[in-house]
Amino acid sequence: MRHFLDLSDAGAAGIQAMLDDAIARKQARAGWPKGKVDADAPLSGRVLAMVFEKNSTRTRVSFDMAIRQLGGTSIVMDAGSMQLGRGESIADTARILSGYVDAIMIRTDDHQKVVDMARYASVPVINGLTDASHPCQIMADLETILEAGFALPGLKVAWLGDGNNVLASIMEAGGLMGFDVVAACPQGYQPSDADVARGKGRATVVGTPQEAVEGADIVVTDTWISMGQAHAETKLAAMMPFQVTEALMGVAKPGARFLHCLPAHRGEEVVDEVIDGPQSLIWQEAENRLHAQKAVLRWCFGQI
Ligand code: CP
Ligand code: NVA
Repeated sequence: MRHFLDLSDAGAAGIQAMLDDAIARKQARAGWPKGKVDADAPLSGRVLAMVFEKNSTRTRVSFDMAIRQLGGTSIVMDAGSMQLGRGESIADTARILSGYVDAIMIRTDDHQKVVDMARYASVPVINGLTDASHPCQIMADLETILEAGFALPGLKVAWLGDGNNVLASIMEAGGLMGFDVVAACPQGYQPSDADVARGKGRATVVGTPQEAVEGADIVVTDTWISMGQAHAETKLAAMMPFQVTEALMGVAKPGARFLHCLPAHRGEEVVDEVIDGPQSLIWQEAENRLHAQKAVLRWCFGQI
């Protein structure tokens, strides 16, 4: 049974194989109508259930389209409309869904819930974002970086702002795929030692945005207020010096690119001139959620 709860579940070889598959499949169906099934329909007859305890646009639509393009179908549920929302346990929900569907994706506030879902399900479980990590997003980010012509080994990725779930998965990716992640986060909002340790010596935290961005190939940021966090003025004020501006992008390598998982809060973590500028890859990054997740689904079913 293959669960995709974090990038380490697949390991370096698994991640590389998924990235190769994502890029190849994307190229093979370039220009096709979005709803047309891939020629080999590799997940024909398979059903993916998706459970959302938090809002989503990209994860929800891209997973739905991913399973359709692979020949399968989906059931999308908001946890609040399920018995889960009235107190039915994750363990019981896992057992019940396993009797109906072939795979489960869950987005939740508490990482332990995806762990429990995987423990009690008899079908593959995928982490669609938790408070602790967002591995599906980073698969799309890595695909986007490769498509932009970079190699992963030796890359320098700079992170600005909140030491959050997305950063934790980027650090894990650096440790697995052999690239450096340098994060600049204000005091009190830095990643935990455990998250930095996911980088296997390649992840570091520095004091200033300039230190992080100097010589970087890729500059990444994310919302300063993640879902479920209080919208605190003190946090926004602490984050302001870490805003991604054109001046800061100028400190990175010439040819550096900008990524953001979205949704963006323009004028907070990034200014319009950067997110809409020539270095930004955000639309390709967002589309790649679809292509990367097709690969994740195929990996979960043992096809990669
Ligand atoms: N990046 C991302 O996960 O977007 P959604 O919250 O819209 O799914
Ligand atoms: N860090 C953000 C990512 C959203 C896709 C959050 O958890 O809300």
